[in-house]
Amino acid sequence: MLQLLFKPELHYFDTCREFAERFRITADDLVLTNKYIYEPFFGPLDLPAMTLYQEEFGSGEPSDVMVNAILEAMETKAVRRVIAVGGGTIIDIAKVLAVAPTGERVDDLFRDMGNLQSRRELVILPTTCGTGSEVTNISILNRTSMGTKMGLVSPSMFASQAVLVPELLSTLPYGVFATSSIDALVHAVESALSPKATPYTRIFSDKAMQLILRGYQRVRQEGPQARVPLMKDFLIASNFAGLAFGTAGCAAVHALSYPLGGSFHVPHGESNYALFVAVLKAYRRVRSDGALAELESFLASELSCEPEEAFDALGELLAAILPLKRLREYGMKEEDIPSFAGNVLASQQRLLANNYVPLSERQIEEIYASRW
Ligand SMILES: NC(=O)c1ccc[n+]([C@@H]2O[C@H](COP(=O)([O-])OP(=O)(O)OC[C@H]3O[C@@H](n4cnc5c(N)ncnc54)[C@H](O)[C@@H]3O)[C@@H](O)[C@H]2O)c1
Ligand SMILES: [Fe+2]
Repeated sequence: MLQLLFKPELHYFDTCREFAERFRITADDLVLTNKYIYEPFFGPLDLPAMTLYQEEFGSGEPSDVMVNAILEAMETKAVRRVIAVGGGTIIDIAKVLAVAPTGERVDDLFRDMGNLQSRRELVILPTTCGTGSEVTNISILNRTSMGTKMGLVSPSMFASQAVLVPELLSTLPYGVFATSSIDALVHAVESALSPKATPYTRIFSDKAMQLILRGYQRVRQEGPQARVPLMKDFLIASNFAGLAFGTAGCAAVHALSYPLGGSFHVPHGESNYALFVAVLKAYRRVRSDGALAELESFLASELSCEPEEAFDALGELLAAILPLKRLREYGMKEEDIPSFAGNVLASQQRLLANNYVPLSERQIEEIYASRW
């Protein structure tokens, strides 16, 4: 059984200047980024690379339409290396740029997923503390024709280098801090409960959970500004969680959140949050021993409560970081529940295979209904 899959080299620099010097940026590099992230840190360095700003190709998280437009823009030039500087949105698009043959578009790549090859070197600098995407081989894209988000997965989509530069997170707004770090916490928890978890992934899951929960308790006590000196911890925690789920996988929380994110453009971490504790409680109703009991004990010791209160205490802590909304507040209608559940079963088997316990269509509908 696979114990830990880790392909990219991992680098750490205190500043972007140190990164740029060490990585010798040239004119055949392409930097995919957002202008408002790139300019404060890299603008003064006047680098020779071509830059593409994602926001000029569409707003929100990556969709097939946005990625196709960026592929077209990239193909105006021979690119040797793609450098992603941004959140999960930028990173997931860059992974596609690294493998796409000239002229092929997102639907072609999904069709040919088993044969994708690395065509350009890929360097990833995350600027949020959520996805861990810098160390995984998956790109999550909204397939607009199918009304949901789906994962394009290939060993060729691993970065050659993942680079952590905490300075880049100094401009992260509180809302993105909250949604992205909740995503990282969900990665850590889902991989801890996954049947593919190993002693190696558990180390990364547990440490990620601990860093995030301790950071959240500081923020709850001292207010949003308390996060600022903790951004390095949160960046490392999201990277740890990425290492854990890169092997152990995510599961039902992500699976159930994708139709919500795809239909109503809810940020990924927030759509996970909307279903997170409800999924944990649904698992517990089916089976309360094993890794789930271990998780409750772990949470109880971090949150100073009894194990049977741990999921409620987790919910209360998260609500202090980000208010929890009901699904109807995102625009979901009660009659959407059966079609969402059907959509999950039809298109998210990759994730459902990692559930702590199998969930039936009826149980998935009940989870949606409990949060509606
Ligand atoms: N591939 C994977 O392994 C994986 C895992 C989890 C999530 N995802 C995907 O990642 C996406 C979400 O990524 P995210 O949570 O990182 O958010 P994001 O990349 O969508 O960023 C959210 C917003 O924050 C801004 N932003 C990012 N960093 C900033 C900074 N340092 N300063 C100022 N503004 C900044 C962005 O420009 C954007 O407007 C979703 O599409 C999700 O499906 C992928
Ligand atoms: Fe995620």
